[in-house]
Amino acid sequence: MLRVGVMVSGGGTNLQAILDAVDAGKITDTEITVVISNNPGAYALERAKKHGIEALCISPKDYENRDAFNEAFLNKIDEYHLDLIVLAGFLVKIPAAMIEKYEGKIINIHPALLPAFTGLDAQGQALNYGVKIAGCTVHFVDAGMDTGPIIMQAAVPVLDEDTHDTLAARILVQEHTILPEVVKLWAEDRLTVNGRKVKIRK
Ligand code: GRF
Repeated sequence: MLRVGVMVSGGGTNLQAILDAVDAGKITDTEITVVISNNPGAYALERAKKHGIEALCISPKDYENRDAFNEAFLNKIDEYHLDLIVLAGFLVKIPAAMIEKYEGKIINIHPALLPAFTGLDAQGQALNYGVKIAGCTVHFVDAGMDTGPIIMQAAVPVLDEDTHDTLAARILVQEHTILPEVVKLWAEDRLTVNGRKVKIRK
């Protein structure tokens, strides 16, 4: 049984997409072992609790400095003996020690076609830049910001009448498709990483 931890900060619709895929049997031999947020008010925590999944909050705000948080965060993660860590809208920088320890086992969903528009509000960056195609990316997490090897991407058109919200909503639909699909591929051990290149085995 693959033990998956999902890190969240917001509404948790990507978490929900993974939960739904597991419940539907699209992702097999996998359990969402724990959901962790830095935001005690994150609705994603409610989604986890409704699903009977351990949900906890740990925030840099609760520690005297970032090093203390980083150590506590990694120690907490280690308690769950996770095979895969999914960052689903998690707005806290992952400690370098955790990236090293869990190399190749941390994936992130980013609402842009990387390497374009890294960082926050990628949707707004795309809209303001005037691109005609936007989208989302699932990638492995490395020491950079949104720079790890790309696993899967999905594209959406940017329409003349788009607002930030309409574009973000169109991208989110695709996020809910590719993130569970990557978890499924990971669970089936069908991902091969060679440098920056990620291949999906049939
Ligand atoms: C998504 O748009 C994701 O790409 C971004 O944060 C948002 C999380 O949404 N990183 P949700 O909490 O999964 O609904």
